[in-house]
Amino acid sequence: MNPATTIGKPLHGVSYYPDLWPVSEIDRDITLMRELGINMVRMGDFAWAKMEPSEGKISLDFHLRVMDKLHVAGIATVFCTPTAGPPIWLTHNHPERCFTLTDGTPMSHGSRQHASYDHPYVRTACMRIVEAIGRSVGHHPGLIALQIDNELKCHVDQDFNEFSIKAWHAWLEKRFRTIDQLNEAWCTGIWSMRYERFDQVPAPRPTPFAHSPSLTTAWQEFTYERIAEFCDEQAAILRKHSSVPITHNTHLYFPLNFERIFRNMDFASFDDYPNSAQYPRLLMQCDMLRAAKPGKSFWVMETSVAHNGWSQNHEPAHPKGYLAPQAIACYASGAQTVAYWLWRQMRAGAEMPHSAILSSWGKPALGFDEVKDVTRRLNELSPLLSNSVPAPTEVAVTWSDTGRMMMRSEPLGMNVAHKIDYTLTIEKWHRLLLEAGLPRDVRFETASLKGLRLLITPYMPSVTEAFLKQVRAFVEQGGVWIAGPLTGHRTSEQTVPLEAGLGKLEEFAGVETVYSFPISGTGASGEALGAKAPLSGWCVALRARDDETRVIGKIGSGPADGLAFITDRPVGRGRVVLISAEPQGEQGEAMLSSLIAHCAEVANVTHRYQATRGTVVFPRVKQSGRRAWIVINLDGKGGTVTLSGKATDIVSGKPIDAGDLTLTPYDVRAVDLD
Ligand code: GAL
Repeated sequence: MNPATTIGKPLHGVSYYPDLWPVSEIDRDITLMRELGINMVRMGDFAWAKMEPSEGKISLDFHLRVMDKLHVAGIATVFCTPTAGPPIWLTHNHPERCFTLTDGTPMSHGSRQHASYDHPYVRTACMRIVEAIGRSVGHHPGLIALQIDNELKCHVDQDFNEFSIKAWHAWLEKRFRTIDQLNEAWCTGIWSMRYERFDQVPAPRPTPFAHSPSLTTAWQEFTYERIAEFCDEQAAILRKHSSVPITHNTHLYFPLNFERIFRNMDFASFDDYPNSAQYPRLLMQCDMLRAAKPGKSFWVMETSVAHNGWSQNHEPAHPKGYLAPQAIACYASGAQTVAYWLWRQMRAGAEMPHSAILSSWGKPALGFDEVKDVTRRLNELSPLLSNSVPAPTEVAVTWSDTGRMMMRSEPLGMNVAHKIDYTLTIEKWHRLLLEAGLPRDVRFETASLKGLRLLITPYMPSVTEAFLKQVRAFVEQGGVWIAGPLTGHRTSEQTVPLEAGLGKLEEFAGVETVYSFPISGTGASGEALGAKAPLSGWCVALRARDDETRVIGKIGSGPADGLAFITDRPVGRGRVVLISAEPQGEQGEAMLSSLIAHCAEVANVTHRYQATRGTVVFPRVKQSGRRAWIVINLDGKGGTVTLSGKATDIVSGKPIDAGDLTLTPYDVRAVDLD
């Protein structure tokens, strides 16, 4: 199969570990894959010891033979670099080459991700195997893409290896140039932390009490930059040998800087293992990964066919009929590929309880027929999917990697009822947009705001000049910007802005901070748009600066009684809406939903749909410019979607009347809108 002809067409794939099974089974596997409609296989991840059983003795022959067979069968290969599975010769008796925990404990050999990529010896070994892969498989006619490592930082976070710490000092020096500038920026006079030289600045190891957030955020930035450089270095080597696109496979919850990690990748990939109740998170990842490489499709590199599991846990098995709607939702959101982990259930090791297409004993497992069903639906929808793209959206939520780092350093509210988590908060806003029937995007912090009418930015403690400039232009041209709680109350070094409580944001939003304090547990409530809800988290109680700024939400009781927590100011042709405390619980969500509806109307958002909860519309635009919808019931309860005019069912070709279209549980419908 020629990758050039495949790209753009939907792929249906699986992770395959042929090295773990008798060679005699490979032909049967491939025949079965073809029968099931699998046209992409991913392999190589973790197989370093197979490729380089002893140091320097590298052979890719085994994998090449499998690729040959797959190619003959018309199945494309994604080859992974195996650096997440360092072999015994690299780490045995070498604790100094291992990933090191905060307290200085080195990881031991076993499991995966146990080597320190900052150790020069490990780094050289990694790049040697990557080079060998590039040289051996880079030109293989069946190769469709290369994947770097797998799920960087999935099991580990910040590496305290001595080489990491040396690199930290060099990074600080490059950033601040003189130690005085660092002392000044972080105000290190506090607790006599003042440093004389860069090599004295600690990595955030255990101390009697908390480190300064300025330091812990800088350390995160540094470690995320290091891991992105590791990824870049592999990509540069692979590009010398191959012209296929390169990707990395990740997940929303990993400690990475996503905007940075994908900068040098050709396309973005992620995995997700939602059980059937978690589809909103899956859709959030789709919207986010679509944004990682604007204009390109993303890949869902792994998902389970039936259930997730490892030695300590297992998730509920999917209900019958769930896999196809899940997979089609990904394709409809802009995925080119949906691939399963894994082909055949592990016969040993930590992941024996994980579902697969085949059981360990080689028979069809629980998800087998479900995969068949995905193929059937995919065949029906393939012409539409290949000839259309997700329609541009008018509404987005900001994803700020720096915001996430800052919230991790300073998750105000840890010890009170209201726990703050950056990712969950962005997920919540995304879900509210989903429930409002608003097709949405996630926009990274530096992404263009082109095409948007409504942008929501919660939890961005430091609003950079560049971001504010973009948002100002967006609002002046008619956009509505909702800045959520804890936005703007820190500088880029995570200190307090001294010109005003919310720094430059105050003038833009037409407000003045009166008090900044934790409102959880004070009994305070807020009233806005006819709704009332308890307020929680960190609160910035506001006052309007002038008559132009309208107070939409008022604090109703507690220490800041009568002050504002939601304001609205016209700027140019648009508006800035500021929310400065978190409306909590169901009532809080209802209030935020009303606010979204109100702002979408003010912003003239035209793309929206009406469907019952659990039924989602994925609008697409065809090459001809005509619009089509893929409508999916994802909660298994069935539902309806309202068609404003006549439509045509794309699969049956039959006309559909305007009005409510009924979907049965897990139904997938594709309609041409007239
Ligand atoms: C992923 C990982 C796979 C496998 C899978 C099981 O996070 O990339 O290697 O462990 O989880 O769910």
